Amino acid sequence: MSDIPTTGNILHFLTMMVNGFRRVGVITMILLYLYTSMILADTPLTCSVLEGGEEMDQGLEKMTFDIGSGTEVAWVSVQPNVSSFYRDAAGSSPGRNPVTPAYKGQVRSFINLSDKEVVLFLEKNKGPSIELRHLDPMSGKGMSVVQGQTLYFADTMGRLIQRFPIDADSGTLHVYDPYYIEGYPEVTESYVSMLSQELQSLYKQWRRTIEFSQHYTKATGRAFLSHSRSQTTPLTPPKHSMWRADYFGQEHWVTTREVHYDRLPPAKHLQVLPRLSRDRELANDDSRLLANYRVGGETSSSSSSLPTMNMTLKVLSCAPRVFEIKNFLSPVEVQHVLDIAQAMTLRDSSTGTGTGHANRRSQNTWIFREESPIIDSIYRRAADLLRIDEGLLRDHAGRDTDADAGTIVPTAAEPLQVVHYTPGQEYKTHVDFAYPRVDDPLQPTRFATLLLYLNEGMQGGETTFPRWMNAETSRDLKIKPELGKAVVFYSQLPDGNMDELSQHAALPVQTSEKYLANMWIWDPYVELSGM
Ligand SMILES: *[C@@H]1O[C@H](CO)[C@@H](O)[C@H](O)[C@H]1NC(C)=O
Ligand SMILES: *[C@@H]1O[C@H](CO)[C@@H](O)[C@H](O)[C@H]1NC(C)=O
Ligand SMILES: *[C@@H]1O[C@H](CO)[C@@H](O)[C@H](O)[C@H]1NC(C)=O
Repeated sequence: MSDIPTTGNILHFLTMMVNGFRRVGVITMILLYLYTSMILADTPLTCSVLEGGEEMDQGLEKMTFDIGSGTEVAWVSVQPNVSSFYRDAAGSSPGRNPVTPAYKGQVRSFINLSDKEVVLFLEKNKGPSIELRHLDPMSGKGMSVVQGQTLYFADTMGRLIQRFPIDADSGTLHVYDPYYIEGYPEVTESYVSMLSQELQSLYKQWRRTIEFSQHYTKATGRAFLSHSRSQTTPLTPPKHSMWRADYFGQEHWVTTREVHYDRLPPAKHLQVLPRLSRDRELANDDSRLLANYRVGGETSSSSSSLPTMNMTLKVLSCAPRVFEIKNFLSPVEVQHVLDIAQAMTLRDSSTGTGTGHANRRSQNTWIFREESPIIDSIYRRAADLLRIDEGLLRDHAGRDTDADAGTIVPTAAEPLQVVHYTPGQEYKTHVDFAYPRVDDPLQPTRFATLLLYLNEGMQGGETTFPRWMNAETSRDLKIKPELGKAVVFYSQLPDGNMDELSQHAALPVQTSEKYLANMWIWDPYVELSGM
């Protein structure tokens, strides 16, 4: 039986993390702010789970390892026992075996540890190789690949450097390291010492990550797809809370004061909101925006009886953690999102990988949270659903009165992306998480995805999770679009690593059309420049 982490351990994690950042000046201020705001924020809304009183996440186990700095400890997410996902009427879990998924795709990391630019190619049996992407020196990129494929690094002239055949045993990290010579650390050392200080430091961070990943994969059965956020801890758990997914059909519920709009307010009430304003902070007993246009709005004049709404998250998959929330949006809200999107120009979607158009065919546009009070309410409701302070999901001014008054704390949420698929269009299997630079101490990445279905009744167009762990079928978990329904899944694991089982797809639409909106929540925050 493994030890269970205690609150003390968690505080230790946080302290180590914060200590690690103390050198980083402004970023430290932001980070400290984010932490204190989580801790000091007004008690959020009533919720089925008591913050702090919640038991530790399932599946975290203590791992000790030595990668050259003495014995160290990390809490890691072990692969769960599939039997525990099934409960009989008496609540016990009879033994079951996992079924191997029909889908053979995986997420692998390709890492360039040379001081030269290299290019990653996918080899083809027939015809020329496909150039996937350029990698900067000392950089790594994750890719969704399929067993049987071969990828390779070439130099910028196209000359082969190293091939990486993908099979069941080839591991998850594919590293080109011209300096590493097994068994001759002095030789490696002397090569590396000729690099610039900056590259030497990146090189050491990468080798530490690579060595840690070997221990991690052995202990957990999972690919390691993250980097260390600090010199001291190879893994730091996400800052936001995560809903547990212990067994299929498990339900959590949350109440929110952000009740449904049931009538569309006139246009004069739907103006753009100021991006930064203290007025945007609502106390628990403040009336919500445009309350008169919402369910129960007529009776909401006395603050003691503000209407509330119950949202139920139902577990569709335990690994990855996927939840369904019916009627998250009302029909009026859905229509409002569609009206805004249709007034904008939807453009061909890209994934920014250079291979995007083959993987993803649809049109999209972005709606900022400040676009209207209704969109703002959707973000507030999402914050309640995910148990995150809504203030983290928008840019806001630092609340401290003196030194950092006026500091802008960036948002942890992207604008709402509205995607339109017509027959034949799809988004092939991919992950949502990002691969930050190894030298970024915050390692910002996508933490959770909220999918909002804006219409229904089409053939095809399901959201699928082909690698969901289960004991019944090798086929994908398929989720059918239903107007107003939301799906939440996490790209991160409780230990801070990325969850490669979160690979998902949008199946081709066969008839009619599909409208979907996504909201991405980052840990710790997102840089919106370039969007
Ligand atoms: C998983 O749990 C079941 C009982 O629920 C048990 O019979 C089985 O041995 C466990 N499998 C592993 C690999 O631990
Ligand atoms: C590999 O890294 C070197 C420098 O470290 C860089 O110049 C080169 O472009 C990188 N190659 C790739 C494919 O990233
Ligand atoms: C919310 O729903 C859950 C489950 O459906 C129920 O147990 C709970 O009482 C409801 N809470 C409120 C405040 O309606």
